[in-house]
Amino acid sequence: MDSLLIKGGTPLHGEVAISGAKNAALPILAATLLTPEPCIIRRLPNLSDVRFMAQILTWLGAQVRTEGDTLRVQAKKIKGVGDYDLIRKMRGSICVMGPLLGRLKRASVSLPGGCVIGARPINLHLKGFAALGAKVVIKEGYVHASAKRLVGSAMFLGGRAGSTVLGTANVMMAATLAEGVTVIESAACEPEVVDLAKFLCAMGAKISGVGSPTITITGVKELHGAEHELIPDRIEAATYAIAAAATRGEVTLRGARADHLHAVLDKLKDSGAKIEHTASGILVRRNGTLRPVDITTLPYSGFPTDVQAQMMALMALTPGISIITERIFESRFMHVSELARLGADIEIEGPSAIVKGGKPLSGAPVMASDLRASAALVLAGLAARGTTQVNRVYHIDRGYENIDGKLRELGARIERIEEP
Ligand code: EPU
Repeated sequence: MDSLLIKGGTPLHGEVAISGAKNAALPILAATLLTPEPCIIRRLPNLSDVRFMAQILTWLGAQVRTEGDTLRVQAKKIKGVGDYDLIRKMRGSICVMGPLLGRLKRASVSLPGGCVIGARPINLHLKGFAALGAKVVIKEGYVHASAKRLVGSAMFLGGRAGSTVLGTANVMMAATLAEGVTVIESAACEPEVVDLAKFLCAMGAKISGVGSPTITITGVKELHGAEHELIPDRIEAATYAIAAAATRGEVTLRGARADHLHAVLDKLKDSGAKIEHTASGILVRRNGTLRPVDITTLPYSGFPTDVQAQMMALMALTPGISIITERIFESRFMHVSELARLGADIEIEGPSAIVKGGKPLSGAPVMASDLRASAALVLAGLAARGTTQVNRVYHIDRGYENIDGKLRELGARIERIEEP
């Protein structure tokens, strides 16, 4: 397993190109299953999760061809049953279920388990499919959904933690080919859901209200092929913004969209970082000492759970106390014990982490546990004195394209140790 070796203490300077969004790519690739015609997806990030989704499409019968950052998919004939082990490996692959149900009126996929960040149920996805008239059964580790006809209806998809991103995506995709009108209340407003709807509309779907909690879908008989360019990855952009602040650097996030990053940029500003909007992107700069800020993760447009760990690393470097509350995933604090190895002083109290920041951090070997926790360890390592070795880098490679190369271009002293 590869690891990253980071010699901390160098301020990051320069420009970093933000890749296409992973969490838009996964449901949009799944949506290509809704039509037998060819679809072209541009600005795909080169990530293991994206390659994995392409493998799933191939397994289901689609022809997939990659040329640089463009993928051409044609799902002429597909099967409705996903490979048990393939689908189980990546939670995001649950979003093939909506398209399979929409097009074939039947879908069987392995029930995704929990993961290190929480239990991650799919009850709301299934509630939505049932509201469209599907019979849903869980048997022998598979979840099966089938219907003679899918019929649009009004449904409420809010759960314990608010809206569901992939649940909204899944039901929206199935409803594009249902008869009549579907209204999803408490729909997710994330930009990735909006991007998916944009692609579906380019395929001929009739959807309105995306970006708001009420989405209306008027079913059509069939969808056709379409081309789409993915939005920039707001979580990757936020991570490099925090890296600039953590290292007292100055970094331009090329191609990032400020309108997707309000909550993160607002907190960075509150903590004393300088944010400017330039012709090529968003410039993030830090000169003086930062101030602690409190953070609560929420569905969009609140502070994203996917940036909680990275912000915690920044607060660990900032003198004073900050309280970080995780409201989306119950156990998304795996990074706390690893940040402690670098010298961070953080206590967990229920859903909150109390960060007593400003203690000097010094490099140590640490273990990546999930994607965003790993990013937090890299950020802490960039600012710490001495050398940090982040092990199990495959977690980072799931969601950050060429992270070591991009950081090196910004002046970081980071190298990848490849295990044979
Ligand atoms: N939930 C339910 N029932 C459901 C679905 C979700 O109770 O049927 C709960 C979850 O347990 C959680 C909350 O609702 O408490 C929100 O979960 P959501 O369904 O929105 O998460 P997701 O769609 O499975 C996507 C991203 C995650 C990101 C979350 C929240 C993808 C592939 N994944 O997951 O991204 O954290 O939305 O924004 O889009 C990451 O990129 O590192 C990552 C984990």
